[in-house]
Amino acid sequence: MSVNGKTVLITGAARGIGQEAARIFAAAGANVVAADINDCSQTVELVGKEGGKALAVELDVTDAASALAAVEQAVGEFGRLDALINNAALYGALRGGRFDAIAEADWDASMNVNVKGIWNCCKAAVPAIRQQGGGSIVNISSLAATFGMPFSLHYTTSKAAVIGLTRGLARELGRDNIRVNAIAPSAVLTEGTKEFFADKTEVALKTVKAGQALQRNLEAVDVTGAMTWLVSDDSRFVTGQTIAVDGGTVFH
Ligand SMILES: NC(=O)c1ccc[n+]([C@@H]2O[C@H](COP(=O)([O-])OP(=O)(O)OC[C@H]3O[C@@H](n4cnc5c(N)ncnc54)[C@H](O)[C@@H]3O)[C@@H](O)[C@H]2O)c1
Repeated sequence: MSVNGKTVLITGAARGIGQEAARIFAAAGANVVAADINDCSQTVELVGKEGGKALAVELDVTDAASALAAVEQAVGEFGRLDALINNAALYGALRGGRFDAIAEADWDASMNVNVKGIWNCCKAAVPAIRQQGGGSIVNISSLAATFGMPFSLHYTTSKAAVIGLTRGLARELGRDNIRVNAIAPSAVLTEGTKEFFADKTEVALKTVKAGQALQRNLEAVDVTGAMTWLVSDDSRFVTGQTIAVDGGTVFH
């Protein structure tokens, strides 16, 4: 599962799963571009301590020009782009509730960041990935979509859209040797999860675990394992797929 020498742009890398991904990819010898609307210097510091290479880039995925600038910085620093991991999302900041009580602004923000954000980053990154003969795009969906999580319909719907985007784009980019896959993780305790479930976090994690075949909660490293495989050439004939990293909750 070699990602050694590959340049990987990871969005939402200031904390949580994205930060862990930056650490794991850099430790495996990848050149990491840690991109986020928030400061990624802590991520770069963590990577540096472990002897890896990472570049922090300011990125607002909702802004096409910002996405283009992030890709330009990545190529400027490392000379190429092999992979894009679309991990950034609005998650903890969204207020849940019954479908008819969701604020319109939250619905729009969810679609803007979680769906349009991926489209923007793909548009920016594909020319660079294409130029060097192909590569891999990994989009982070969620068990929310594959299971059908209630009381957060904006989030659930946005993560289901990620699966459709992945499938359609995989067919468009196959001829460029660019693979597009998604990962649907179950629940892992990140700051985003704590913000999302608030005082119900413990109950939510217990409930998710009870529905899994494997009886422990997901860890960020479980997700990065699937990311590494999807970026590596070991998955070179896999595209358009959604890999459930959910301990056996939903069987496709
Ligand atoms: N944590 C979980 O249990 C879980 C489960 C399934 C799927 N996911 C998905 O995994 C991904 C990471 O989750 P997490 O728990 O680490 O989330 P998190 O909230 O801890 O981190 C998300 C990151 O995205 C960044 N971000 C938000 N809006 C942005 C924008 N407009 N431009 C650039 N960056 C932006 C944030 O600053 C943050 O650093 C998300 O796509 C989330 O939906 C998480």
